[in-house]
Amino acid sequence: MTEALTFVHRYEPAARSSAPALLLLHGTGGNEDDLLPLGQMIAPGAALLSPRGKVLEHGMPRFFRRLAEGVFDEADVRARALELADFIEAAREEYGLPAPVALGYSNGANIASALLYLRPEVLGGAILLRAMVPLSAAPEARLDGKPVLILSGAMDPIVPAANAGHLASALQDAGAAVTHRTLPVGHELSQADIGAARNWLAALEAGASAAA
Ligand code: MLT
Repeated sequence: MTEALTFVHRYEPAARSSAPALLLLHGTGGNEDDLLPLGQMIAPGAALLSPRGKVLEHGMPRFFRRLAEGVFDEADVRARALELADFIEAAREEYGLPAPVALGYSNGANIASALLYLRPEVLGGAILLRAMVPLSAAPEARLDGKPVLILSGAMDPIVPAANAGHLASALQDAGAAVTHRTLPVGHELSQADIGAARNWLAALEAGASAAA
C-alpha cells in the first residue's frame, strides 16, 4: 500500500466492472464500515472505497471541524477537502479505479459538496444525502454536466429546506446536472433514499454503457 493512502479506509473491489465505483463518506460518529451495506444495496457489485474522517469531535469521527451544529470551520472544510481529494487520487492509482461517485451522508455529504467545488475532477458524480451548503463563499467551479443527486428530508431538523435548495441551485449554476428530491422523512436515512439512489445510479450506469 502506498504511503499516500493517509486515511484509514476499507476497499472492496468491483464484482461487476460496469458499475460506477462509489466513494462512501459517513456521517458524524460513523466510520469506514458504516456505509458499506448501503453501497452494496444501491450499487450491487460496485467497487467501494470508504475512508474514515480524520477529525474527532468528542471522539466521533468527522470529515471537518465545526464550530456548532450547522456552523462550519470553513478553513478546515477547505483543507480537509483538499486532503481527501489527494487520498482519492492515490487510491485510484493504487486500486485502478475510475473517478468514483461520492455517496455521502450528512457530514459526509457536506465534504462531498466541498470536493465538488474545490476538486471536482476527483469525482465522477455525487449522491448527497441530507447535504447543506459547505462554504458560505463558494469558489467558482466548472462542473460541466457532472451528475449530482441531492436527497433532502422534509422534516430534517438539521438542514433547513432553504439551505438544501440553495446548494442545489448553486451546483446547478456551476454546471452540474442536479436532481434534487425532498423525501417525507427527517435527517435519518430511509428506504426511500435507497430506492431513489439505486434508480438514479442505474440510470447513470445505463447512460454510460449506451455512450460507450
Ligand atoms: C455537519 O456538521 O456536517 C452537519 O451539521 C451534519 C452533521 O454532521 O450533523
